[in-house]
Amino acid sequence: MYVLGIESSCDETAIAIYHQAQGLLAHVIHSQIATHARYGGVVPELASRDHIQHVVALVDEALRQAELSKHDLNAVAYTAGPGLIGALLVGASFAKSFAYGLQIPAIAVHHLEAHLLAAMLDNPDIHFPFLALLVSGGHTQLIHARALGDYVLLGDTLDDAVGEAFDKTAKCMGLPYPGGPHIARLADLKVTSMDALPPFPRPMLDKPGLMFSFSGLKTHALRAWQSSRQDDAARADISRAFQEAIVDIFRAKCARALEETGLNQLVIAGGVGANRALRSALMDMSKQYNAKVSFPRSEFCTDNGAMVAYAGFLHLNAGEKDASLAIQAKARWPLMSPTS
Ligand code: KG4
Ligand code: ZN
Repeated sequence: MYVLGIESSCDETAIAIYHQAQGLLAHVIHSQIATHARYGGVVPELASRDHIQHVVALVDEALRQAELSKHDLNAVAYTAGPGLIGALLVGASFAKSFAYGLQIPAIAVHHLEAHLLAAMLDNPDIHFPFLALLVSGGHTQLIHARALGDYVLLGDTLDDAVGEAFDKTAKCMGLPYPGGPHIARLADLKVTSMDALPPFPRPMLDKPGLMFSFSGLKTHALRAWQSSRQDDAARADISRAFQEAIVDIFRAKCARALEETGLNQLVIAGGVGANRALRSALMDMSKQYNAKVSFPRSEFCTDNGAMVAYAGFLHLNAGEKDASLAIQAKARWPLMSPTS
């Protein structure tokens, strides 16, 4: 079964083709970072227009890469939410009409579920149930993934998402959007200023449970920047201290979640999962707990079409069908099971 995946929930138009035996046959992506960078964040109307301009050419390119014709496709999977409604509508209406023209099913995919399943693309040994850590620009959640479509929320953030904290901290130090990769790069530099930084807090670490909070840490980084020399060395110092605090928080909370649930697989998802320091800390931690930690390859941590094609395939394979002509696009769409 050849499944075309279409992702357009935010600022990437991404297309992929997945086949259950042949694996991932194509994946192409057009990033809008350059369009939005000057505004310091995503401008929804510009995002929608840009998706319209690129979606058709990207589908053609993916088909070319896979050496397939559109008539070889067996299904189309599209991100139906959550996300920017205008951006979602572009992908959803294209997907639905394309599938209708080809007389094949179009399946609505939940963006966060697609992120959670992305690690399975390269790690076929992952199986339900598992503990998932979803760390992106909009989410910081620990999830008990019980089965396909059955997710229980164990921990969430009380305020900013971790990616948002990375982006805002980067922005206050004059770094471009999205700031996460810039902070990560600076944190790895050996540059240090002579000035001692006040110790960075690890919010919620001393409290029981699996909740997170990042706004205090972000404010702490802002204050540290304001009272620094505001040069490259200060940027590197603050990036390192900020990233270390975040890594410590996730190491401890993931360990606690493994202990509390008795699960022995930890699956990482979302853009911040590309962070190398976080990856190696979680790998070390998982050894102590006799657990296995799996990550998507870095390019599949951030938004991509491969995870959408793959999630669509899993749902189709499980017998789901969508014969209706209704185009599904939902800005808000809870992932968790009603029992959670
Ligand atoms: O999952 P994603 O592509 O988009 C959604 O939020 O859905 O995640 C984007 C987030 C941004 O906040 C970005 O700064 C962060 O992931 N990010 C990183 C790294 N790469 C991307 N944060 C820390 N270190 C990285 N290497
Ligand atoms: Zn995403």
